[in-house]
Amino acid sequence: MQPATLFPFSAHDFKNLPFNPNSNLFIPTGVMNATSSMGIATVRPCFRLLLGGSGKAAGALSKCPFLFSKCSRIRPIASSAGVRRRSVVPARAVAGARSLGTSAESAVGREKAFDRIYKEGLAGKPIVIDRVEPEIHQQPGPPPAAEKEEQEELAPPTKETEEEKEAWRLLRKSVVNYCGSPVGTVAADDPMTGGQMLNYDQVFIRDFVPSALAFLLKGEPEIVKNFLLYTLQLQSWEKTVDCYSPGQGLMPASFKVQTIPSSDENEAYEVLDPDFGESAIGRVAPVDSGLWWIILLRAYGKISGDYALQERVDVQTGIRLILNLCLTDGFDMFPTLLVTDGSCMIDRRMGIHGHPLEIQSLFYSALRCSREMITSNEGSKNLILSINNRLSALSFHIREYYWVDIKKINEIYRYKTEEYSSDAANKFNIYPEQIPSWLVNWFPDRGGYLIGNVQPAHMDFRFFSLGNLWAIASSLTTPWQAEGILNLIDDKWDDLVGNMPLKICYPAFEFDEWCIITGSDPKNTPWSYHNGGSWPTLLWQFTLACIKMGRPELARKAVAVAEKRLSKDKWPEYYDTRTGRFIGKQSRLFQTWTIAGYLTSKLLLEKPELASILTCEEDLELLEGCSCILKKSARTKCSRPSSKSQALI
Ligand code: GLC
Repeated sequence: MQPATLFPFSAHDFKNLPFNPNSNLFIPTGVMNATSSMGIATVRPCFRLLLGGSGKAAGALSKCPFLFSKCSRIRPIASSAGVRRRSVVPARAVAGARSLGTSAESAVGREKAFDRIYKEGLAGKPIVIDRVEPEIHQQPGPPPAAEKEEQEELAPPTKETEEEKEAWRLLRKSVVNYCGSPVGTVAADDPMTGGQMLNYDQVFIRDFVPSALAFLLKGEPEIVKNFLLYTLQLQSWEKTVDCYSPGQGLMPASFKVQTIPSSDENEAYEVLDPDFGESAIGRVAPVDSGLWWIILLRAYGKISGDYALQERVDVQTGIRLILNLCLTDGFDMFPTLLVTDGSCMIDRRMGIHGHPLEIQSLFYSALRCSREMITSNEGSKNLILSINNRLSALSFHIREYYWVDIKKINEIYRYKTEEYSSDAANKFNIYPEQIPSWLVNWFPDRGGYLIGNVQPAHMDFRFFSLGNLWAIASSLTTPWQAEGILNLIDDKWDDLVGNMPLKICYPAFEFDEWCIITGSDPKNTPWSYHNGGSWPTLLWQFTLACIKMGRPELARKAVAVAEKRLSKDKWPEYYDTRTGRFIGKQSRLFQTWTIAGYLTSKLLLEKPELASILTCEEDLELLEGCSCILKKSARTKCSRPSSKSQALI
């Protein structure tokens, strides 16, 4: 992507645009008037003086310090009117969490400029010569004494191991700054790539989640707050692939801080340059980004107590736009989200198009999180209703049709096919021949799991770790099913954990299947990368699921396996072979989410009570809602007697 095409404007072009300092908006003439609630949202770029004295810097401000990002959507920015303020004491904050106190609260409705102005220091490094500290970057104050005591009681500080110390050093080194403030972490900082960085020098939304959690659990929320607000601004950018611009609300897969020289050769701008998939290999749109953003927003609020952030008008709008994209009516017959191949962590062709489990688990979790965060009023009534309806239908669908255990496999084995009726047992017309031979021999007597995908005449029986673990964390599964998944992982430890936790999916496609389904992808050869490779970043999600189910010892066992190798192997992105013995063929080293995933696992095990910032508990009312819908619809019948019984099995 060429910055020149993305930023075809010079500072001069915007010199005369009216700027509203209270709302942080440029107001283009002819687009809106002063009374409109909407404006073109901008990520206000940072203006940097590469050379010159302080007089010049002062001049720069008055000149035109802001560059205008191309944007497709007009978004209101928080103003004091209409934003409710929350009390300083975090009513919903989890035990052990710290309060952001008044600094965060005062940020509401008083957005200031994001600008920093620099001049080049003697050693060639920019030094700050003038600084307008925006509220969004402020460090939270120290936790109140009582809370601090409570924290110490809950979690006596354990001594950091050498691996943890190294991991923290590397994580801090991966931090990306924008206008002098931390806004994310690069995907990898591998010195061995010989200039082949591809897009690993960018901040990926999904990759940043474990980094964010490590910082939050360590009591450093600033970077997370900045990340949430800046990526929100990116959401409003126009996403285009050739001549096509799909719907609003999409969050980018990644972004990069670009330095753009200005027409004055002594000056440069920093701008955030997002990638919505239009530059990505395969041009895939990241469906998971917005879902992760919502999940992280809730976690940030719960741990910091800074609920003011999620109540801001622009943040509320951001949540709604993501949800609108997910909840729009289409041609679908199912409550699951219909997506293209490669729209999540597995971002290459791997035969997961349709209704992949990973997206459904994140979708369910994001809906649960949004329901907690959306300000309840007349305007949000319908949205909350449709969230509830979708949650009911989605959990019923996944619990019923994605779940397999030995009993269910036997049912499928004896399925009748070609049943034309509304009460068919074999609703999706699955031919029993589809049951793969590996599954017949592999399936243990106890436990079970959610399969990868369900579509007409197609069940993808592969085990996908992220989808299963996240289904446990969000309570998409029943508690009994969640137990079953952990039992299966325990029983199949050598296959799913082996020498490195955790297999991204099991088993791998081989031979013709690999050719046809991956398109002969040399990166996704059997037992490598997305095709049965082992990804240490999944350790934190495993830890989370184990803590939720009261089995931290299982997570500790996995951490011990990882700990033996990660630092020695230079924190690889992924491992290859059936049991994860080799560092991945094309694996990056010093992969940030490997490092952060390890730290997050350690921190969660140290403070298991904080896992609740990410998890949701079983909601029986949702199941009630589902059985009501089913009863009302005379033509629809469940293959099991009552959806509420799902909670008990
Ligand atoms: C690979 C992974 C993707 C990750 C990216 C950056 O493309 O498949 O999930 O976000 O690398 O690490």
